Formats: sequence, structure tokens, C-alpha cells
Amino acid sequence: MATTTTTTSLLAYAFAVALLLGEIVSGGRRAGDGFIRLPSGDESGFIGGEPDDGSSGTRWAVLIAGSNGYWNYRHQADVCHAYQLLKKGGLKDENIVVFMYDDIAFNEENPRQGVVINSPHGSDVYAGVPKDYMGDDVTVNNFLSVILGNKTALTGGSGKVVDSGPDDHIFIYYTDHGGPGVLGMPTNPFLYADDLVETLKKKHASGTYKSLVFYLEACESGSIFEGLLPEGLNIYATTAANAEESSWGTYCPGEYPSPPPEYETCLGDLYSVAWMEDSDVHNLHTETLHQQYQLVKKRTANDNTPYGSHVMQYGDISQSSEDLFRYIGTNPANDNYTFIDDNSLRPSRKAVNQRDADLLHFWDKFRKAPEGSSRKFEAQKQFVEAMSHRMHIDESIKLIAKLLFGIDTGSEVLKKVRPAGQPLVDDWNCLRSLVRTFEAHCGSLAQYGMKHMRSLANFCNAGIETRHMTEASSQACSRVPAGPWSSLHRGFSA
Ligand SMILES: *[C@@H]1O[C@H](CO)[C@@H](O)[C@H](O)[C@H]1NC(C)=O
Ligand SMILES: *[C@@H]1O[C@H](CO)[C@@H](O)[C@H](O)[C@H]1NC(C)=O
Repeated sequence: MATTTTTTSLLAYAFAVALLLGEIVSGGRRAGDGFIRLPSGDESGFIGGEPDDGSSGTRWAVLIAGSNGYWNYRHQADVCHAYQLLKKGGLKDENIVVFMYDDIAFNEENPRQGVVINSPHGSDVYAGVPKDYMGDDVTVNNFLSVILGNKTALTGGSGKVVDSGPDDHIFIYYTDHGGPGVLGMPTNPFLYADDLVETLKKKHASGTYKSLVFYLEACESGSIFEGLLPEGLNIYATTAANAEESSWGTYCPGEYPSPPPEYETCLGDLYSVAWMEDSDVHNLHTETLHQQYQLVKKRTANDNTPYGSHVMQYGDISQSSEDLFRYIGTNPANDNYTFIDDNSLRPSRKAVNQRDADLLHFWDKFRKAPEGSSRKFEAQKQFVEAMSHRMHIDESIKLIAKLLFGIDTGSEVLKKVRPAGQPLVDDWNCLRSLVRTFEAHCGSLAQYGMKHMRSLANFCNAGIETRHMTEASSQACSRVPAGPWSSLHRGFSA
């Protein structure tokens, strides 16, 4: 009886998603080209010589893709692209620390073995990328220790850290899945916002940088800094999304422009591709962080369609009057291409919600696989497993809220959003504890489950303690689905 109901609603859900994806696949397309380069003319405002960029220090960068799996191709592609950009900008390998799982270039699903691209007509961005922290060395502890320059705290990896001094400039770029208050990692645990901001404060207190810029792409990425990152640390941060919305993958199958037909995955992320494609072609002596923020904000909003998000800025906003050159250098080949706001030349396009990019991959794989093939069967299985994990997590959280607060109040608590300027939760250790308790009874939250972090935070804000959560979780989850998504074999998210 129960099984029949589950199967029926699972199919209904699958059908709804299939329709949604079909909608994406047949989505609106308009002709148009990418960037148009304008030769610098009299309007350039920059005439020869080195501009005074006030910079005598070294440029450092930390680049991190927080995911793995072929359906997350785009995050590692973003990071590889960022490396190529910095390298052309003049940064040295010894000053660029790269974190990526490195399971894409030679993944059996990758149609071009050993090659990674970040746009439909893009060339390889994988060659030459330093392999500093790969595979299971991509951890929260290594990431934070690299920022702090603490070599003794590292486990595995190349040992490269941000060994910066007081005159130096640091650029940090993170791209992955996230949720309210957390960022993903290919390993457990997740990176919690309080730990990240504490690390930045510690770095500041150590006097080992002049200024720092943080570019962050993830769902609900605004929640990482909202109410948490103070002014006065000489840190300027921008995020792909505000604290309450998803961020978007781009160059996905069925979009315009779409990846080459043999790619069954998204090649990039909307905010990431926006800042990188802008930086790729301009003389960055002549473009300020603020100008780039405006341009990226416009492109990422995607004409205010539902397929876009709100780029936000945090920390020392006044720092955004500095030029990009100070952080990411500039490619001498672009010396004659000054900044121009050329978003108007871009076609509008559809994009894929970060959280649905895995489903899109499984669906596209399913659609293209020959009838009756083992590949078709495998894709179907992957799709159904991902879907049943989603339903299990959604239903469990709802039920727990009802058990804790009663039917009406329960759904209010789930949806509550604190006013802007306030952090997600007051007691981060409470949040960690509720996550562990939930997972112990209901299985791993995994990438998709991160979306419920706000609900768990709201439980804490309403005074729920671990013992209440233990009781409700054990009642709500009599069993954990057997699929790989629910498995806790890689440990807890907190
Ligand atoms: C570096 O990390 C180690 C191990 O976590 C810690 O004991 C030490 O205090 C850290 N050093 C600094 C300078 O923070
Ligand atoms: C920029 O323009 C100047 C003047 O036309 C030219 O001499 C120079 O080679 C150009 N630089 C690049 C990198 O194209």
C-alpha cells in the first residue's frame, strides 16, 4: 500500500521534472553573438604607461571547486578557466592554489578525454592547471589552512599555501553547490559560514594582506556573508545569489547557446562565466571591481527572468573602486581593449537551477541513450535514485517540523526568513548538531538537502535542542532509502 503511493507520487514528480526540463530544452532562443571587442579609441581614458595601481605587493589566489561528479562538470570547468585567466594575467603558479576533485577531464562520460571547456566554443582550460589539492584532499580543513598559510595543519596535497605578507593582495574564488549558511565540498563536512568568516578575521588579524577580494558562486551564497562579514577587514566580497535564492548553471544541454551535442552536462555557471568572460577580454587596468560587479549583476539577473539571481556585495564596498588588475592581473594581449559595458550585446538565455543540473544530466543521458541499452537503464536508475532521495529529504523535514511545532506552526517555521542584515542562525553549533542528528536518523542531506539548512537554522532560532530533534527525527525516519545519495559512508555534513 505505502509502496504503491510512493511509486505513484515518485512518477508524478519525475513527470513534472521531465516537463520542466523539456521546457528548458525547447526554451527561448534568440540569435546573437558573444563579446564584441572594441579597439581602444579616444574614449579609453588610459593612455600608455603603468597606471598608479598602488600595488607593490604580490598577488595571491585560491581557487576552489567544491563538488565532484560529471553532472557537476561546470564547477571544475569554472576553476580551470579562472586559473588560465590568472595565469595570463601574470600571476605565478607559486601564488595560485587550486582545489578541485579532478574527476572530470578523464571521466568516462567526458566526450573529449583530457580536455575541459567552460563555454560552447571554448578551448581547453584544463592543461597546465596545478594539482595542489585534488580528490579527497579537497577539504574544509585544507581550504581554511591554505588561506591562513598554516602548513602544519594540512593533510595531503601539494603543501602550497597563501604565504602572504602585509602588502599583498588576495583573490579567493569558490564555485559549487551551497545552501543557507553552508558551502559544499566533495568531502564531508560542508563549509559553514561562521568558520569561513572566522578564518577571514584571523587572516586579517595576522596582518598578512593589504586587501582581499572574494568571489563566491553557490545557491543562497549571500547567506554566507549576510550579517556575518563585518566592514574593516579590507575584504570585498560578491556572491552569485542573495541569501534566499538559487544560483544558475549555464551552457546547459538545450539552452541557447548550448554545449556541443555530445556534452550531456552544463559547462559553466552564470555568475562565474559572467565575471570570467568579462575579465578574459579587457585591459583590467581600466576596469574597477565595481564596474565588473555592475556588469556581472546585470548578466546574472538574466533580464530578470526566473532563470537568474541577484548578485550581492558585502564587506568593504568602498574597496570596489580599485581596479581588477590589483587582484587578478591583466593579459597584455588585451591592452587595447578597455572596459565597456557590453551586456546589451548578449542574447537572453535560459539557465538551469544549480540544484536541477544533476537531474538534467541524467535526463539528457536517458533521452539520448539507445532504446533498451544498459546506458539507458543506468540513466533511468540514476534519475529515480536522485528523485527518491529528494522526496525522502523533503518529506522528512516537513514531518519533523510538524512533530516539533504542530501542523500550522510547523510550516511557518520551515519558511521563515530573517530580515536582511541578520545572520541565518545565532548558534552555529546548534545548527551543526541538528544537522548531525537529522542525518543520523534520516540519512545524508547531500547536495540537494542543503536547501533545507534554513529550516534547520529556524529550529535552532526557535529554541529546539538536540534532544527534541533526536526524538522527532527518529519518529519521522523509520528507514533511510538505500540509494547512494542517502548514504552516510562519507561521514556527516556537520
Ligand atoms: C596551525 O595549525 C595547527 C594545527 O591545527 C595549530 O595547532 C596551530 O596553532 C596553527 N598555527 C597557527 C599559527 O595558527
Ligand atoms: C595596441 O595598440 C598600439 C597602437 O596601435 C599598438 O602599437 C600595440 O601593438 C597594440 N597592442 C596590442 C597588445 O595589441
